[in-house]
Amino acid sequence: MINPSAEVTDFDRVVEESISRRGFLGGVLAFGSFAVMNSSFVGEAAAAEDRFAFEQITTSVDDTIKLAPGYKSEVVVRWGDPLFSGVPEFDHATRGTAESQARSFGDNIDGMEVYAHGDKLIYVANNEYTNRSIIWGNNPDGKAVSDDDIAKGKMAHGLTVVEIAQGENGWNIVKDSPYNRRITPDSEMELTGPAAGHDLLKTKADPTGTLSLGTWNNCGNGSTPWGTYLACEENFNGYFSATDEEHKVSAELKRYGISAKDWGYGWAKIDDRFNVEMNPNEPNRAGYVVEIDPRDPNSVPKKRTALGRFKHENAEAVVNNDGRIVIYMGDDERGEFLYRYVSDGVYAPGADTDDLMENGTLYAAKFDPAGSGKWLELSEDATGMTKAELCVHTRIAASKVGATTMDRPEWVTSNPNASEVYCALTNNKNRGIKPNAGGDLTHVEGPNPREGNPYGQIVRWKPAGADHTADTFAWDLYCLAGNPTVHNDAFGGSSNINADNMFNSPDGLKFDSNGLLWIQTDGNYKNEENFAGQGNNQMLAGDPVTGEIRRFLVGPNECEVTGLTWSPDRRTMFVGIQHPGEKGNSHWPEGGDAVPRSAVIAVTREDGGLVG
Ligand code: FEO
Ligand code: CA
Ligand code: CA
Ligand code: CA
Repeated sequence: MINPSAEVTDFDRVVEESISRRGFLGGVLAFGSFAVMNSSFVGEAAAAEDRFAFEQITTSVDDTIKLAPGYKSEVVVRWGDPLFSGVPEFDHATRGTAESQARSFGDNIDGMEVYAHGDKLIYVANNEYTNRSIIWGNNPDGKAVSDDDIAKGKMAHGLTVVEIAQGENGWNIVKDSPYNRRITPDSEMELTGPAAGHDLLKTKADPTGTLSLGTWNNCGNGSTPWGTYLACEENFNGYFSATDEEHKVSAELKRYGISAKDWGYGWAKIDDRFNVEMNPNEPNRAGYVVEIDPRDPNSVPKKRTALGRFKHENAEAVVNNDGRIVIYMGDDERGEFLYRYVSDGVYAPGADTDDLMENGTLYAAKFDPAGSGKWLELSEDATGMTKAELCVHTRIAASKVGATTMDRPEWVTSNPNASEVYCALTNNKNRGIKPNAGGDLTHVEGPNPREGNPYGQIVRWKPAGADHTADTFAWDLYCLAGNPTVHNDAFGGSSNINADNMFNSPDGLKFDSNGLLWIQTDGNYKNEENFAGQGNNQMLAGDPVTGEIRRFLVGPNECEVTGLTWSPDRRTMFVGIQHPGEKGNSHWPEGGDAVPRSAVIAVTREDGGLVG
């Protein structure tokens, strides 16, 4: 099906409109009602001053970490580092076994958080996925040759919980800490909320529909005001397959990208749960936000069905003025939606919080091109679905209410200094060209203003009356990424993008405690054509008031920079380096002939000062 975008949106007209409107940042391309934006977005913000405690650096194509002058970094923990004594160190020749991997740091780090617990620091990270060509790179064709290879890949997924400490040798993990724990695709979890016990969740492994085994492909994360960790299940579909390659899955599974063929992980070969012919409901137990208590190593993680089922990027929890919990969430797929959850109950520090992610209402965002927007409730009336059904088939519910198809919503983050929320829309080659998997058209307009968008943008919105539960909001674009050395039109980016700070594909997004917006990229690093001069993936910081964006860090070859958090004293910033050498061209962090390994780095100031 071809999206008839040419008739409803004319690319030239949209671009012209965008350029003729003067933005709230004094020249940034803004789409929407500038008069409203100008007063509401800039008015309440703190006085403009230089919030950057660093000088911008140039791009890099070197196989190393580059940092702003005055800052240094060290590796804290890498894929395959053992969490316990008696587990062998990472073996570059074999890349470990399923047994060693299950008790070592997982692969491809993504969302992360540090929790203070008494005098201990507990670090939690998602281990999103594995690069098959790396984890099985010791095999002749880079593929699994044994069941143990497949099981090793499976055990590299999930999360790692590990105590960390800063000593004379810098930051390290504390081996054998009682808090150390791997959460894998086989760990037992509880299904909670409106869909728990529903027929759609009943499987051979759990006929009650209230339990689930494991979590995998956890991308971004969130953290609750009560100190639990939220792991967000993203591309959970790529692990399912059928024995019969011609097997047709249901329309509901198809909407989530499930098919008879997996992405090469092979899990169905060792675990029938991942065979959709045999277990068609198994995929309904994945695609959720999982709440984990990092302080109790025996706690059973809870999958929160009330927060909906889609390809969750992260979960940004905000305590509203009235005490209700509002959680903003993106669904990272071309033309999918941006969501909000509002709790029924209110948060009271110290009181029981179990109900707050059990009973509440889901909404999907509708953006009006003129600069306003509305949260559309996913109610039983509006969708014709039961509450349980809409918590499982959330994409279908959001399509029914007519939410706006977005350019792949990645991380969402809220500004601690203002009632405003930002979301990275990473890119979308299908914008204006193809509808989403549900057939919803992808008009070139509003916060998604460029056809075939290769660069991405950051949208922000301000809830009406500074009330995160309000039905309406005002929005504009914080930036349009682009390449001004290649393009003179909107593909050159907004006016806060220039030849010195340009990037593509914003993904990780997080405000620090001072209100500086950190931007991490997962983009095209070929450094030519559309991406000429943009180098390796990187991390930048943006001032929400002035719009200025500066590059702070550049990652090693073929990596993505993703995941960000701070030590409680704010003197260390932890940053994730995911999939270095995903195409075979990195030996980071060890160099020489070493196998490239995803790792977390600690970034500190040489003078010991604050970093966020
Ligand atoms: Fe795992 Fe949307 O990035
Ligand atoms: Ca991401
Ligand atoms: Ca991404
Ligand atoms: Ca990624």
